[in-house]
Amino acid sequence: MIAIGSDHGGFELKQEIMAHLKKRGLAFRDFGTYTPESCDYPVYGKAVAQAVASGEYSFGILICGTGIGISITANKIPGIRAALCTDCFSAEATRAHNNANILALGGRVVGVGLALKIVDTFLDTPFSEDERHIRRISMIEE
Ligand code: RB5
Repeated sequence: MIAIGSDHGGFELKQEIMAHLKKRGLAFRDFGTYTPESCDYPVYGKAVAQAVASGEYSFGILICGTGIGISITANKIPGIRAALCTDCFSAEATRAHNNANILALGGRVVGVGLALKIVDTFLDTPFSEDERHIRRISMIEE
């Protein structure tokens, strides 16, 4: 189950991503925002990050204008590794190396086509389970 959220800057891209997830038959819950009106990205960043940290959702997707504010917010929640990606190489590497559990995107940065490829790459890449990566990830939380 995927938790997804955005502010107004990521609202349009979130609609595209949700349609794409639906097409792929992937279950998700939209944590808002539900209108394109101006709003505060920390509200949605925290809601999705807490949902993922609780263990109820395996992945989160967060979108704001740049992806920066919402990823900074999410990374304040213990257990969250939110990765802001603008390319598929990073999306693959952050799953394989960092076991990232939230993908952050900038709705004003990446186009829809690229964003959907990044989403697919992120969701479809497993963690490597390499000892060195497990060690480094545990060092983040120490
Ligand atoms: C909102 O205008 C914008 O600041 C927000 O979407 C995001 O880019 C913040 O990091």
